[in-house]
Amino acid sequence: MGRRSGAVAGVVTAQSRQRETVTSAVPLGDVLERYRDRTVLVTGDSGFVGSWLSLWLRRSGARVVGMSLPGVPPAPAGVPPIAGGAESRPLDVTDLGQVEEAVSSVDPEVVFHLAAQPLVMSSYEDPVGTFRTNVMGAANLLQALRSSSTVRACVVVTSDKCYAEDRRPRVEGDPLGGNDPYSASKAATEHVVHAYARSFLGERGVGVSTVRTGNIFGGGDWAPSRLIPDFVRASGGGDRLELRHPEARRPWQHVLDATSACLRLGSGLIDDPLGWTGPWNVGPRPESSVTVGNMVEALEGAWRKRGGRPAEVEVGEAPASRYESPVLFIDAGRAHKHLGWRPLLDLPSAVDLTVDWYWGALHLPTFDPEAVALDQIECYEGLGRGT
Ligand SMILES: NC(=O)c1ccc[n+]([C@@H]2O[C@H](COP(=O)([O-])OP(=O)(O)OC[C@H]3O[C@@H](n4cnc5c(N)ncnc54)[C@H](O)[C@@H]3O)[C@@H](O)[C@H]2O)c1
Repeated sequence: MGRRSGAVAGVVTAQSRQRETVTSAVPLGDVLERYRDRTVLVTGDSGFVGSWLSLWLRRSGARVVGMSLPGVPPAPAGVPPIAGGAESRPLDVTDLGQVEEAVSSVDPEVVFHLAAQPLVMSSYEDPVGTFRTNVMGAANLLQALRSSSTVRACVVVTSDKCYAEDRRPRVEGDPLGGNDPYSASKAATEHVVHAYARSFLGERGVGVSTVRTGNIFGGGDWAPSRLIPDFVRASGGGDRLELRHPEARRPWQHVLDATSACLRLGSGLIDDPLGWTGPWNVGPRPESSVTVGNMVEALEGAWRKRGGRPAEVEVGEAPASRYESPVLFIDAGRAHKHLGWRPLLDLPSAVDLTVDWYWGALHLPTFDPEAVALDQIECYEGLGRGT
């Protein structure tokens, strides 16, 4: 078996055998239709990715209940957040009692778990809090699902950073690792999910998958210390943009490509919970895996096209103790082949959609964040017709 050793590799191998026969992709429209009238719980619905996912589910006819810790990173100029969930309730995933109460009060059929502390830099400042939220948060949710009589499918979003360092594109059976607390917390989450699926949820017919995504971007993200929001804040406010690692290569993908993979997986799990259980890499086309510097050039071009003056860039000193991998790249071949998922947006189109959203947010007095997001979802569904 070579490099593919350990428990996770075992699951992948067994599933690859199971899935060898599944080759034809279900059209995106049929995937979305599977959610109509279903009750879906989204943790982290107030966050960047969770709000897009909740909005898309709601548009597809699902009853969406979102649960998150109150408070989101503030947007400049009072731009309201994308409020994706039809019903949004407060929840702290680190409190098992609260999570059990939440699950039993919603009776979801499908759960998407996105509540997390998602920032590498914050994980250096609060490693224990990051492990508590990311690892114990996932354990609490899966523990609560053991008592649910309604749930059929759970999708947990982790990260491409869960893998051990390697310059080669990583596949699902590769060793897990993580040099910083955030990355290690995502590797640990993978183990927690695997153990719950194997020990408790699989035997009850509940499918549980993880989605290991690359760097997600799109409108509506105002998190600190992330490249695209930093670029927008600096350009909008006439500040400088400080880059820490301009040569670092990252797998950039638009939030609609990432969330379409989650939706495809959730719908697969509804039909065949055990067949789709396990980890799935979700990454961009190889040509979208560009350096931080290349990404900034693409953003500058799109900003200028709209008549704006992009922020001046300066390269800052990265603290030696704050390690960041020079190359991150995942091989999403398994999702292409067996899930029928493919990124539909190339990098220039993804940057264009993103800058459209932020440009409107900063410059248009009548800007409606949700309406623009819904327009972009509609365009994406058009691209996905027949895929
Ligand atoms: N954005 C990316 O580039 C990216 C890449 C890979 C993986 N991910 C993963 O995707 C998921 C969503 O990331 P995001 O970028 O939307 O982050 P975000 O910070 O925008 O959203 C995080 C959400 O989690 C909620 N949350 C945090 N702590 C909580 C707690 N204790 N209890 C309940 N809710 C809590 C927040 O309220 C918010 O709704 C995370 O798991 C993240 O690790 C994101």
